[in-house]
Amino acid sequence: MIRSQILGCGAYLPRKVLTNHDLSAMVDTSDEWIVSRTGIRERHIAADGETTSDLATLAAREALRAANLPPEAVDLIVVATATPDETFPATATLVQAKLGISRGAAFDVGAVCAGFLYAIAIADSLVRTGNAGTALVIGAETFSRILDWQDRSTCVLFGDGAGAVVLRAVESAGGPHDRGILSTHLHADGRQHDYLYVDGGPSSTQTTGHLRMAGKEVFRHAVNNLSSVVDEALEANGLTAADIDWLVPHQANQRILDATARRLGIAPEKVVVTIDRHANTSAASVPLALAEAAGDGRIRAGHLVVMEAMGGGFTWGACVARW
Ligand code: ACO
Repeated sequence: MIRSQILGCGAYLPRKVLTNHDLSAMVDTSDEWIVSRTGIRERHIAADGETTSDLATLAAREALRAANLPPEAVDLIVVATATPDETFPATATLVQAKLGISRGAAFDVGAVCAGFLYAIAIADSLVRTGNAGTALVIGAETFSRILDWQDRSTCVLFGDGAGAVVLRAVESAGGPHDRGILSTHLHADGRQHDYLYVDGGPSSTQTTGHLRMAGKEVFRHAVNNLSSVVDEALEANGLTAADIDWLVPHQANQRILDATARRLGIAPEKVVVTIDRHANTSAASVPLALAEAAGDGRIRAGHLVVMEAMGGGFTWGACVARW
């Protein structure tokens, strides 16, 4: 059978760092409040004129270098983003042009913070069915552009960044110890719209709008949905939490990471954490965390890696991969 294997990861974070102390000069907040409620200490913010496709392209180049492949090898680009450069065309096509590629398919996926899980599930399906041989899967966001910088309850939580992975078709015996993506699991419940949304868009207000959130409700649903989708993913592969080498969760809030790992019975040392330095980068958070842990040698060949994320919609999902 064919499986898609993650051959390389890449990351890009804008140069500008905004600390909690910087924020306390902008809104009525404090480092102490933000750290104790969320675990966030600082976040990166895109420069004026620096767009989502710029961030995505730099992360993609690094992922291709790590995979030791030239851009011409790529025949599928999927970008997960809620902050595209333009309403259309897809940010993925802008990335394709910036990488100098003119073949294959390129499109965006919108599932907000769960976007990378949706994107990797779709790319994995296209690779396994022979429709693509080498895929770039990217999560990239400039959430700083859709935040209400007067609203302290949301503006302290998010940051900008991009992460990318290269997937390649490999022959596999198909067992849980053979390398590649073992399974993906996606969910949505559109009834939960009002807990997390942007109050604008081309078809409703003809404005970009700002992020609105009911934090407590998001928190409660996140722990329930994320722990249940990881259970579902493990069960589908005949695995248990004890088999996990690394849990790579969406980085929304340290307390969500802790509560989810506790409920799953996963030791904190096995959870990859970047929330303190990146804040919530939405679709970029899982590939940024993957790139960090693969780059510093924590994630190694043969490790079982479980990714999970939840975002607006609500949408949520998980992916199990043998590295
Ligand atoms: N600084 C200081 N005080 C603040 C701030 C701030 N930045 N923000 C809110 N407060 C105040 C509130 O006004 C409130 O004051 P009041 O009691 O006088 O009314 C008080 O702090 C407590 O506010 P709560 O909303 O009850 O605080 P809570 O402990 O629930 O923490 C938080 C809020 C951090 C947003 C939490 O609910 C959370 O993390 N939820 C998950 C949200 C999330 O992660 N969203 C990301 C997108 S979805 C996803 O990625 C999964």
